Amino acid sequence: MESMMVTFSDGGQLGGQTLKRVVFSEEDVQLRVRELGAEITAAYTASDRLLVLGLLKGSFLFMADLVRLIALPLHVDFLVAASYGTGKVSSGDVRLLYDPGASLKGRAVLLVEDIIDSGNTLSRLIPRLEARGPSSLEVCTLLHKRLTTLDPEARWVGFDAPNEFLVGYGLDYAEDFRHLPYIASL
Ligand code: IMP
Ligand code: MG
Repeated sequence: MESMMVTFSDGGQLGGQTLKRVVFSEEDVQLRVRELGAEITAAYTASDRLLVLGLLKGSFLFMADLVRLIALPLHVDFLVAASYGTGKVSSGDVRLLYDPGASLKGRAVLLVEDIIDSGNTLSRLIPRLEARGPSSLEVCTLLHKRLTTLDPEARWVGFDAPNEFLVGYGLDYAEDFRHLPYIASL
């Protein structure tokens, strides 16, 4: 709706582009990440040898904030999976462009994702990771559109998201907007 479009005058972060509305403010996000950090801390012990595995690039800010709020010894690694190209609709094909050097065997693996939309990425990725023998494998996603149910479902969900295309706090549209500290719809 054209009348709802807002141009944010926030120091040129948007390069003159427009967003519809802020869906989760910076404060909403930081409060929720704090809660998730506390819940995750309570769910594991030091002997679990937690490996926090972030799916790049979308999870990079969420990961960085989240791991600082997990009060346990842990390791960090990343996976690069590409499914979207430059569009707004999943291509259905999930390619692993980078695979972690870290061994998953016997470790409690926490997979950190930015958003679950079709569920395609995670439903293809989880069996591949399970096959490497982690002692447990859980998913923490910042956003879940609830368009699908994963099996198993993500254990931690930051926010149920509206069925709109969201950007900011790691999420992009054709690589734009990842650096915004809030989540907005496009
Ligand atoms: P899925 O495979 O359809 O669940 O989507 C997984 C990936 O698509 C996410 O990790 C995002 O990178 C991207 N994605 C899905 N929905 C959105 C959105 O609303 N904004 C930005 N990226 C999205
Ligand atoms: Mg993406």
